[in-house]
Amino acid sequence: MKFVVAIDGTASSGKSTTAKLLSKKLGFIHLDTGAMYRAVTYLLLGKQAEEASDDRLLRILRDSLLEFKIVSNALSINLDGKRLTDELRSPEVDNWVSPVSERGVVREYCVNRQREFGKDAKLVCEGRDIGSVVFPDAELKVFMKCDLAERVRRRKRELEEKGIRSGETEVKAGLVTRDRIDSGRELSPLIQVKDAMVVDTTDMTIDEQVKIIYDEVIKRMGNGPEAGR
Ligand code: DC
Repeated sequence: MKFVVAIDGTASSGKSTTAKLLSKKLGFIHLDTGAMYRAVTYLLLGKQAEEASDDRLLRILRDSLLEFKIVSNALSINLDGKRLTDELRSPEVDNWVSPVSERGVVREYCVNRQREFGKDAKLVCEGRDIGSVVFPDAELKVFMKCDLAERVRRRKRELEEKGIRSGETEVKAGLVTRDRIDSGRELSPLIQVKDAMVVDTTDMTIDEQVKIIYDEVIKRMGNGPEAGR
């Protein structure tokens, strides 16, 4: 049985943490599509090609050994045989990932791979265009949102946990700019689709965020928790 949970939302709205825990609880695959766009951005930055022409972008994507695999129910990304993890969340990648993911060639490259993972799978997939473009027939669509002030607090805490100190103004400006590009771009902008369940995480705990979506999945599967296995 196929079941796709499509989770979309702004940066730092709680998507990743929720999707990770929800997929564990359900025994589903977790597909963090933002990590794929981050990996492409990291690859381009390494070649000083973040603003390259479409031709050059295509050539780099074709000639690079960038691998997306599912390992232990989660996405694992290798570049030239080396696993990418923390590199994907650096401030430099943060700054460039939105402009890079606006590019048509980059979107096509990532979306094709995402759809392959969705074939006949039980999947929690998070991103910006999952319910609208990647899996418009998803069994459950969720739109996560959160007040900007709370998102700034979360992002700042996340950076501090990695030993990266940054001011509130800087973090806020970064989030506002990414939201503007992600929601305003021509191709596959972040939108709240009509049939999405809206989850406002501003005053919710992580457990509450996971539970509310988990309960909805179980309800739609119709057979109790065992159906998720
Ligand atoms: O979820 P995230 O913050 O890791 O995503 C990083 C960026 O990747 C986001 O700012 C825009 C882009 N992205 C996208 O364009 N489409 C997606 N489905 C997921 C992410």
